[in-house]
Amino acid sequence: MPVKYPSHSTYDREVWDVLSGFWHPVARLSDLSNEPFPVKLLDVSLVIYQTEETSISIATDICPHRGAPLSKGRIERKRIICPYHGLEYDKSGQCQRVPASEPHADNCAAIKLTMVNWCEKYGLIWVNLNGKPTKPLPKWAAFEDDNYIVVDCDSELWNASAGRHTENFNDVAHLSFIHSGTFGNPNDPLIERYKVEKTDEGFDRTFTYNEIDKIDYLSDKSEVVPKIYNYRFTYPFASELEMNSPDGRVMTIYDCICPESPTTSRIFISLARNYDRDTPEKEIQKWQAAVNDEDRWVVESQLPKLLPLSPKTEKHIAADAWSLEFRDGFVRLGISRDNGI
Ligand code: FES
Ligand SMILES: [Fe+2]
Repeated sequence: MPVKYPSHSTYDREVWDVLSGFWHPVARLSDLSNEPFPVKLLDVSLVIYQTEETSISIATDICPHRGAPLSKGRIERKRIICPYHGLEYDKSGQCQRVPASEPHADNCAAIKLTMVNWCEKYGLIWVNLNGKPTKPLPKWAAFEDDNYIVVDCDSELWNASAGRHTENFNDVAHLSFIHSGTFGNPNDPLIERYKVEKTDEGFDRTFTYNEIDKIDYLSDKSEVVPKIYNYRFTYPFASELEMNSPDGRVMTIYDCICPESPTTSRIFISLARNYDRDTPEKEIQKWQAAVNDEDRWVVESQLPKLLPLSPKTEKHIAADAWSLEFRDGFVRLGISRDNGI
C-alpha cells in the first residue's frame, strides 16, 4: 500500500516524491526481537513487528483508531496490540479484536493498518514507501562470496543529510587530512585524475591511493601501501569502496543510509575482507568507529545542511568530479537544481 507524503514532513515535496520511489535500509535483521521495533524513514514513523519468529510485518506506526503509536504496544496471541484501547492486529495488519466492544461484534474488517513494501537483503530490512520501486537494490558481491568474511557495525544516527554523508563517503580529497589518525596519508594528499563511469545504478570509478595500511588490527604496525580503490555507487545513497592491496588482500566497505529526515541519517556499514579471518569482530568494528568519528564532526558541521544540487552554491576542485556527477544525478531524477538533498 503506498504511503502518503506526511503532512508534518520537513522534506520538500519533490525531494520526498523522488526518494519514496527507492528502497532504503531501515534496520538490521539482528535488531529485531519479539517487541515492536520503531524506525523512521523520510519523516514517516514505521513499526516492524514479528507475530511469529519467521514472519515480519511493517506498518506505519499509527493506529487507525485514534492515532496512537503501535510501537509502544506489545505482541501477544500472534498479534500486535495497540497500547491505547487494545485493538489487536494480525500480521497482515487486519484488526481481529476490539476489546471495548465485546461481546458485540464490531466491524473489524473495516479497520486495517497501512502496511508497507519491504524486503530483506544483506542482513538489512529495506523499505519502499511508494509501492513502486524505480530501481533495484544495490548488488553487493562480497556478501555472496565465501572467500569473504563480513562484519556488520552498529548503526549510527548522524545529524547530517543523506546527501552530505554520501558525498563524504565518496570524497577522496579528504582522506589525507581527516583520516590521518587511521589510514589517511598526510604526506601524500595529491589525488590522481580519475574517470567517473556512469552505470545503470549510479557510478563506478577507480584510482590509486598511497594508504597508511594497518596490516594487523591488534598492533600498531603500519606501512604505506599503494592500494587500488574501486568505488561503486548505487542511487540514492548506497556506496561501496573496495580497497585492493598489491599482495591480494581486499577489504570492501559497504555504506548505506536510512534518511530519517532531511537532516538526520541512520548509517549502516558492513566490512567484507578476504584476509585476517581470525581477527575478533569487535576489533574491526572499533577501527571503523574510529574512521567514522574522524568524518562525523565535519559532516555534521557542514553548511548548508542539505547538499546543494546547484553547482554555483559551492566552489569545486578537480578531485570533486564524482561529487558533481552525484549532484547532477538527482536533477536527472526530477529534483530541481535549486533544491538540496
Ligand atoms: S488508538 Fe489504538 S486502539 Fe485506540
Ligand atoms: Fe572519510
